[in-house]
Amino acid sequence: MKAPMAPAGWQTRPRADEAPSWPALATHAVRAFGGGADSFDLRRAFADQGDRAAKFSFEAPQLWADLSKNLIDDTAQRLLTQLAEECGLAAHRDALFAGAPINVSEDRAVSHVEWRNPALALEQSAQPAIQSIAQWRATMLMLADAVRADAAVTDVVNIGIGGSDLGPRMVVQALHAAGATSGPRVHFVANMDGHELAALLPRLQPAHTLFLVASKSFGTAETMRNALSARDWFLANGGQDVARHFVALSANAAAARDFGIEHCLTFDEGVGGRYSLWSPVGLSIAIAAGRQGFEELLAGAHAMDQHFVQTPLARNLPVQLALLDLWYRNHLHFASRCVVPYVHGLRALPAYLQQLEMESNGKRVDLQGRALRVASAASTWGQVGSNGQHAFFQALHQGSDVVPVEFVLTAQAAHDLPEHHRKLLANALAQARALMMGQEGDAPERHFPGNRPSTVLLLPDQSPRSIGALLALYEHRTFALGSLWGLNSFDQWGVELGKRHAGEIEAALADGNPEALDASTAALVGRLRGA
Ligand code: F6P
Repeated sequence: MKAPMAPAGWQTRPRADEAPSWPALATHAVRAFGGGADSFDLRRAFADQGDRAAKFSFEAPQLWADLSKNLIDDTAQRLLTQLAEECGLAAHRDALFAGAPINVSEDRAVSHVEWRNPALALEQSAQPAIQSIAQWRATMLMLADAVRADAAVTDVVNIGIGGSDLGPRMVVQALHAAGATSGPRVHFVANMDGHELAALLPRLQPAHTLFLVASKSFGTAETMRNALSARDWFLANGGQDVARHFVALSANAAAARDFGIEHCLTFDEGVGGRYSLWSPVGLSIAIAAGRQGFEELLAGAHAMDQHFVQTPLARNLPVQLALLDLWYRNHLHFASRCVVPYVHGLRALPAYLQQLEMESNGKRVDLQGRALRVASAASTWGQVGSNGQHAFFQALHQGSDVVPVEFVLTAQAAHDLPEHHRKLLANALAQARALMMGQEGDAPERHFPGNRPSTVLLLPDQSPRSIGALLALYEHRTFALGSLWGLNSFDQWGVELGKRHAGEIEAALADGNPEALDASTAALVGRLRGA
């Protein structure tokens, strides 16, 4: 895929709430979806529109998406697509792919899509940064091959948090469940809570363990603490040669060296933490799935990149999902979105999406620093199906709030228990149908209002290619939604303040001097010190 030229004007696009179609959307939402007797009803919409299922379904690489059971009609979809055009979404997208500095608060380009561009390995790009990506990727895959071929390595431990944990952890889990992994056991440690690391260490042998310390900044408190404790444990238990047993995955090789790790697989600053599983941060995936598996993952994501770049907005899946998200958040005022993967291997998907969506778009000022006038990121939550049916589905069916639900399914299972998969799929489709259909009750508590929205994302299987396409879909949907709101989806200043307070409170916990703290925190510190 040739990177398009960054189009002029990507910096000066109108925000969605300032675009010409916005007032028409607002009026349409109130008139047609406002809750009156004639208000939009899914059951009536299907009865009136014979081609609704086909019309609101979309095809993208490895994915079939049925959006037809959503609270949306032809007019809303037309106005929303028009809105995306008015907001210059295509120009912003092309600027991303052309390497323009769209992460304006950090004055840098966004490069995660380059990490999955297969052309890079062959093409001698004029840009040194791009040449480096091809070389770094080759080094990473060589190391993955070497680790897999070394029978002495029985366990690999990825120490990282946030984007340096969630994506790799979820993908390894998914591929493991699909029988697509081999080689050493791969573990993940993220939490500052020492119970996570303490539970793992007794199961390891220093001579047979490789630690991957994954941290873009190489300064994140949790990761540094866990890495130090892992190294202490390694040395205290007879481990020899820290240099061979600890590898850093970081954009800050100097900090890794200062920490005492000589071998660092590096990447460029343009890779955001929550977009980093395609880079050396994904080494644990490459070790678990092998070179071919990792390349398949990249190929699936790259195919989705092409779909995002080349497909007209009206049939562009990430764009249409982002527009639906905007419609729900700003015009129908839904505060949250529920994601239910009916795929055991994707049980960590809701946690991964919480970071991707809420760290990217949980913001209140636009690229120019102006306050937003409309709500930004909805809360993302959920858990694996069918387990969720026995937890929160009661509220989805009969609770006071309408929560759009996203069902993620695979047509094929990777096990040979056919009865399970058929029942699993039936349950997922049944929930989506029940949410829509509702039911008249013979008593109030047995009444189901129905007309509750849902989306089905259908993958053929849980192969690396399918997982890659799904995750790239979510990345682009998140970017597209942030772009419509006028946000920078690639910074995360909101996480900094808490980190600073943690330093002050840790000092107070250590020295018992809480003077600088507020009365509530000081009292809690006092109580904890007395415990
Ligand atoms: O605190 C938030 C955050 O910066 C995330 O954006 C990031 O994924 C995570 O911490 C870990 O950061 P790093 O990879 O630099 O350790």
